[in-house]
Amino acid sequence: MDLGLKGKVALITGGSKGIGLETALQLAYEGVKVSICARNEKHLEASANFIRKETGTEVLPIQADVTKQEDCKRIVKQTVKHFGKLDILVNNAGTSSAAPFEHVEPKSWQQDLDLKLFGAIHCSRQAVPYMKKSGGSIINVTAAIGKTPPESSLPTSVSRAAGLALTKAMSKDLGEDNIRVNTVCIGLIRSHQIEKRWKREAPELNWEQYEKDPRHQIPLGRIGKAEEAAKVITFLVSEAASYVTGTAVNIDGGKSGVL
Ligand SMILES: NC(=O)c1ccc[n+]([C@@H]2O[C@H](COP(=O)([O-])OP(=O)(O)OC[C@H]3O[C@@H](n4cnc5c(N)ncnc54)[C@H](OP(=O)(O)O)[C@@H]3O)[C@@H](O)[C@H]2O)c1
Repeated sequence: MDLGLKGKVALITGGSKGIGLETALQLAYEGVKVSICARNEKHLEASANFIRKETGTEVLPIQADVTKQEDCKRIVKQTVKHFGKLDILVNNAGTSSAAPFEHVEPKSWQQDLDLKLFGAIHCSRQAVPYMKKSGGSIINVTAAIGKTPPESSLPTSVSRAAGLALTKAMSKDLGEDNIRVNTVCIGLIRSHQIEKRWKREAPELNWEQYEKDPRHQIPLGRIGKAEEAAKVITFLVSEAASYVTGTAVNIDGGKSGVL
């Protein structure tokens, strides 16, 4: 199937590791020119070189912190200046933060919302005017726990629930400009975040044991791979999904209790 992505330009926030890096790689394989951002410049440069070497595609790495509004503006502007347009935005930057209510300090609420909600809002706000010219596609990477928050999932499940509402409202608002907005709700996908969790929760297990640990309660019986999330994102931003907007797709091996 031709995904119709050749020649498009994408910006992926948090594109230096995990799901973001794998998404940039998959898009680059499809002939998309990619701009990636993250805070750590060394990782960012290494990831950009890796994508170039693997795919032969042009990659623009931009050091940025998406909790800063001015950085969101800069990454969009630099991407458009370098590539001449912007067709795809993947709001992926994020970290893990989950605790019971009384353990969450006020500043942690603010930091989580700044990163996961306002980062997506500010980047999208900058990107939309460029997408209005010829249509575009935005993916907000959220989490399945935004739909079914467990007791110790704060503040992240709240930030993610807001990301779901943001996705739906934006999709309705921007449909007339042919800008599609969807979200992917991640369950457990192997990445930097999850590897830290593995070392913390079960250092006595090797990865093969940990990923299949029944305590995760994943119907497909294992933690997912970043590539498996990236391929769904690539499909959703492609022409193959041209009539899909305002949708939330669980990428969780069936773990979530809701559709
Ligand atoms: N993996 C999972 O199971 C899982 C589950 C639910 C939701 N998610 C969500 O999926 C997304 C990707 O997660 P992942 O597991 O692939 O994470 P990861 O491997 O830890 O990668 C996170 C990426 O985001 C960047 N980043 C973090 N804070 C940033 C900031 N303030 N500004 C710019 N970039 C920033 C990181 O680079 P720097 O640190 O250098 O900035 C890195 O490139 C996140 O939004 C995460 O919350 C993941």
